[in-house]
Amino acid sequence: MSTTIYFFSGTGNSLKVAKDLNEQLEDSKLVQISKKNLSITNDTSSDKIGFVYPVYFGGIPDMVKKFIENLQVNEDTYIFAVATFGGGAGISFDQIDDILNKKGASLSASFKVAMPGNYQVMYSPFPEEKQAECFKDANEQILKIASSVERNETNKSNKAGGIKKAIIGLLYSTFFKPNDKDKNFWTTEKCNGCGTCSKVCPANNIDMIDGKPQWKHQCETCVACMQWCPQKSIQYKKNTLKRGRYHHPEIKANELFQ
Ligand SMILES: Cc1cc2nc3c(=O)[nH]c(=O)nc-3n(C[C@H](O)[C@H](O)[C@H](O)COP(=O)(O)O)c2cc1C
Repeated sequence: MSTTIYFFSGTGNSLKVAKDLNEQLEDSKLVQISKKNLSITNDTSSDKIGFVYPVYFGGIPDMVKKFIENLQVNEDTYIFAVATFGGGAGISFDQIDDILNKKGASLSASFKVAMPGNYQVMYSPFPEEKQAECFKDANEQILKIASSVERNETNKSNKAGGIKKAIIGLLYSTFFKPNDKDKNFWTTEKCNGCGTCSKVCPANNIDMIDGKPQWKHQCETCVACMQWCPQKSIQYKKNTLKRGRYHHPEIKANELFQ
């Protein structure tokens, strides 16, 4: 039984979960969802398909949405989703199921993995003890997910549905405005032009011009540029000047390089 796990990740939480699942599952492979892989429009050969992604404003990242919309799948393929998030999975499973339903397929199972929140535009990184707790719980959760996927277990209970879906859906469409959010990024004098920000950007949205990053307004808001900057020089407005930075401690930047 072959499994393909498609993952999107800015700061490595979802990549770590995808990698661990990949190790647990037999005959499984990992494929990154990024600008360069948006040409993948068909997967009718995998017996099982998984999507692993971070929750943004209660829903799925834009690129994940477009990727799934464009992906042709067999109607009876076992499809599972794993959301990583700092607070909750929101309506992300409902959104994926809705997209799949339009092509006659459906989400067979959905799983949640709580991870440190990485949106340092709004808050500081989780304290280290809380991060360690997340990682410990996540390790246990991943074993359970792998076992469920191996056994083709189905569930519908993680979907928000009803009024909750309507309210979170409204928040998502009101607040999730990617693309030109990058207008708020800037660099301090610490930037040494290393280009890490450009390489980790899954949207290929950053060019290095005269040794400085220039954002091209096709931002996915994943904050990878800011979080992986070795100099901590990238800022979002003034919000992040005094805040720490976060990326998953067991993932290296070059695992996300485009
Ligand atoms: C733009 C943005 C919006 C986010 N919105 C939410 C949210 O609505 N709910 C939540 O629980 N976590 C939210 N988060 C936190 C991430 O979902 C979480 O840290 C995730 O594990 C990051 O995964 P990654 O390291 O693979 O990018 C948000 C993060 C970003 C960057």
